[in-house]
Amino acid sequence: MPTQTPRSYSVPPLRPLAITFDPDALTLTPEGPTLTRRMSDLEGLFADGDAWHEASTGENPVVYTVTSSPVPEINRELPQSITTIMPGTTAGEFWMTKGHQHPDAQGEIYLGLRGTGGLLMFDGTDTEWIDMKPGVIGYIPPGWAHRSINTGDEPYAFLAVYPGGAGHDYGWVLEHGMGNRAYRGPGGTLERRPYNG
Ligand SMILES: [Fe+2]
Repeated sequence: MPTQTPRSYSVPPLRPLAITFDPDALTLTPEGPTLTRRMSDLEGLFADGDAWHEASTGENPVVYTVTSSPVPEINRELPQSITTIMPGTTAGEFWMTKGHQHPDAQGEIYLGLRGTGGLLMFDGTDTEWIDMKPGVIGYIPPGWAHRSINTGDEPYAFLAVYPGGAGHDYGWVLEHGMGNRAYRGPGGTLERRPYNG
């Protein structure tokens, strides 16, 4: 079996480092790339395409941000990021992340940091839902597509820790859906409905 020195994992190799989490600002220091997803980035994901189009061509609000540490998304590294989803609905459907499948089937964990949300998972047949709030660790097994949804009235934030080589396949969700959708029901309660219902 070939041997590999630890330093061959990343280019340039990372030294061990401390990453500071600011629970008020929801930031990581030192920081890596930050991704901003506006409504216009979420084409084909909300059930009501007309409502999505109106929102994306109008105010086009920021739906969520993903701020990362400098740990790179490459094989054997273990990157982490904080996702913050704004509160809101589009035609009653709670705001959410695009959702993705890992092309290289590997697990992931989410830790709730602020607000309330849902971790929706779909393996192509079965749907699972975990209620997320600060302190809850949601475990995503290999092979389950995952999407996060803000089900509350304040920003919902969580920490993700994931294998750097797992990758992100967003097209899988466009093709297969996520099994369920999450709507704001009467009085603000959560209503889950079949994806195409
Ligand atoms: Fe993931």
